[in-house]
Amino acid sequence: MAINDDIIRKLEGIRNLPTLPAIIQKLRNCLLNPNSDAGQVAKIIEDDPAMMLKILKVVNSAFFGSSEPITSIRHAVARMGFTSVSNVALSTSVFAAYGRKGEAGFNREEFWRHSISTGIAAEVLYDRCRQNIKSRYNKDVLHLSGLLHDIGKIIFEQYFHEQFLNAVKDCKERNIPLFLMEIEHISADHAQIGAWLGKKWGLSTELQEVIRWHHEPDNANAKYIDLVMLCHTANYICNLEKIGDSGDSTAPAFFHSVWKRLGLEIKDVPTITEQIREESQKSELLLALFE
Ligand SMILES: [Fe+2]
Ligand SMILES: [Fe+2]
Repeated sequence: MAINDDIIRKLEGIRNLPTLPAIIQKLRNCLLNPNSDAGQVAKIIEDDPAMMLKILKVVNSAFFGSSEPITSIRHAVARMGFTSVSNVALSTSVFAAYGRKGEAGFNREEFWRHSISTGIAAEVLYDRCRQNIKSRYNKDVLHLSGLLHDIGKIIFEQYFHEQFLNAVKDCKERNIPLFLMEIEHISADHAQIGAWLGKKWGLSTELQEVIRWHHEPDNANAKYIDLVMLCHTANYICNLEKIGDSGDSTAPAFFHSVWKRLGLEIKDVPTITEQIREESQKSELLLALFE
């Protein structure tokens, strides 16, 4: 289903629709330029001291499990690589733009807990299912997929506030998946709007596919299916086990084919959940981002 034109017109007309900060654009240009070096990447981040401090905090958190402290951005780039540092900058920027508390009716802190936990779950699943998937991922990509998969809900909460809260309320009362209730109340769902925003922000095609198809993994482009399956299953487990609160009252549809491809069975859920909870607790990233 295509997104309703009225919705797009309304979104396109929003003047203060947050854009990604200039720093992300500069980092992206730098990454695309084969002549860039670590010093140039570091310089872009060092020019924004607030961002620099946040990134250092995140890369030094238990989340990235560094054995010795990373004391400078140059050090981080040398240790983690350009792309990973740029991905950390992206998640830090998204959180800085949207992390503030929302209005009543939708608990943003619990929403971010759901999103971050979905990233952690994607990582747990990746480790567990590695032999069944072809693609290889770094931690930062798995983290970003979880962090961003439901970003469309934040757009709805901010710009379609009343309709979105009605959709959340109806979803709880009628026990129908939130994305279906969004279609009823807003004529679009958060996966469509999130993917639209992802495209506008110039996120990678892979991340756009994850956002777009996390509820309907069968529709994803075969090229990106591994990350879509990981994020879809991570989201399923976090909703089922109520790790954070995505605003959805029902577990998403179960895709037997995806579980089969990943080599997972429903009886594995308790062990996986325990691992996710353990990792989430250990992860100071949650706290670093909430401050
Ligand atoms: Fe979702
Ligand atoms: Fe979700």
